Amino acid sequence: CRVQLWDSEEPVPRAELLAGVAGKRGLLCLLSDLIDREVLEAAGPDLKVISTMSVGFDHLALEEIKKRGIRVGYTPDVLTDATAELSVALLLAACRRLPEAVEQVKNGGWTTWKPLWMCGHGLSDSTVGIIGLGRIGQAVARRLKPFGVKKFLYTGSRPRPESAAEFEAEFVPLKRLAEESDFVVVTCALTPATQGMCNKDFFSRMKKTSVFINTSRGAVVNQEDLYDALAHGQIAVAGLDVTTPEPLPTDHPLLSLRNCVILPHIGSATYATRSTMAVLAANNLLAGLQGEPMPHELRL
Ligand code: NDP
Ligand code: DGY
Repeated sequence: CRVQLWDSEEPVPRAELLAGVAGKRGLLCLLSDLIDREVLEAAGPDLKVISTMSVGFDHLALEEIKKRGIRVGYTPDVLTDATAELSVALLLAACRRLPEAVEQVKNGGWTTWKPLWMCGHGLSDSTVGIIGLGRIGQAVARRLKPFGVKKFLYTGSRPRPESAAEFEAEFVPLKRLAEESDFVVVTCALTPATQGMCNKDFFSRMKKTSVFINTSRGAVVNQEDLYDALAHGQIAVAGLDVTTPEPLPTDHPLLSLRNCVILPHIGSATYATRSTMAVLAANNLLAGLQGEPMPHELRL
C-alpha cells in the first residue's frame, strides 16, 4: 500500500482530511474524526473501506457510507476489559469520593479522624442498573458482582436473557431503572434513541443517594440536566469518562462541582489495549482493501 499518514497525536485538521482523502481507497480514522457526507464526497468513488480505531461508530455517517457500498471495520472485544476496568475505577472514585479525599490530604483539610467526614456510598447490598448490557456492560457487571451487589437491573432495546443470566439481571424500563438503582452505569452505544436519554426526567426519578456513571458517549447525557441534579442534591455524585464536547472546556460548570468526577475519555487507555486496537484497525483495513473478510466488520 502507499500510505498518506497524518503523523501526529493531534486530530487531523478538517481541511487536511478533506484534501488528503481525495482519491484514496481506504481510510483509517479515530473516533475524533467526523466521517460525514462531506468527507465521503471529498474522497470520491474510489473509497472502498473505512476502518475506525474504536468500537463506537457514532462518528461515522453510516447511511451515507452504506449507500456508497463502503465497508467498515471497527474494534470490538479487544477494549472491553480495559473499559470495564476503568468504569469500575471511576465508579469507586466517585462513590468513595477519592479525588476529594486526596485533595484534603494535600490542602490540610485532613485534621483528624471524624465519624462522618468523607463518607460516601458503597456497593454492598446495592442495586446496580446498567444501561446497555452489551460487551462492556456485562464486563462491568462481572467485575461489580464480587463487591456484594444485591441486584442487577438493565435496560436496552429488548431483553437479553442470554447476557443477563450470569448476573440474574432483570430487564426493566428506563424509568424503573432510574427509580430503583443505587448505581446507574451507562455503557450503551450512542444512537438517535439513546441521545439525551439521561435527562431531567431521568435524574428526577433517581434516589438522592444514587451514583451516576457514564463511560459510553457524552451525548447520551443532557449535561445541563445533570448539572442541576448534582448541584441541587437530586443525585449524590456522578463520574464521567465522556462529555460533550471533548475536551470539556476548563471553565465548564460541571468542573466546579465537588460531586462530579470527570476523566478525559480514557476507558480503553492501557498500552496493551491501544496497541491491539491499532493492529486490529490496520488488519481490518488491509482485509477490506483486499476484498477479504475483515477480522471485525461492522454489518451495515
Ligand atoms: P455493544 O454493542 O456490545 O453494546 C452496546 C449496548 O447498547 C447494547 O447492550 C445495546 O443493547 C445498548 N443499547 C442500544 N440501544 C439502546 C437503548 N435504546 N437503550 C439502552 N441501551 C441500548 O458495545 P460495547 O459494549 O462494545 O460498547 C458500548 C459503547 O461504549 C460504544 O458504542 C462506545 O460508545 C463506548 N465506549 C467507550 C469507551 C471509553 O473509552 N469510554 C471505550 C469503549 C467503548 P440492545 O442491543 O439490547 O439494545
Ligand atoms: C471507543 O472505542 O469507542 C472508545 O470510546 C475509545 O476506546
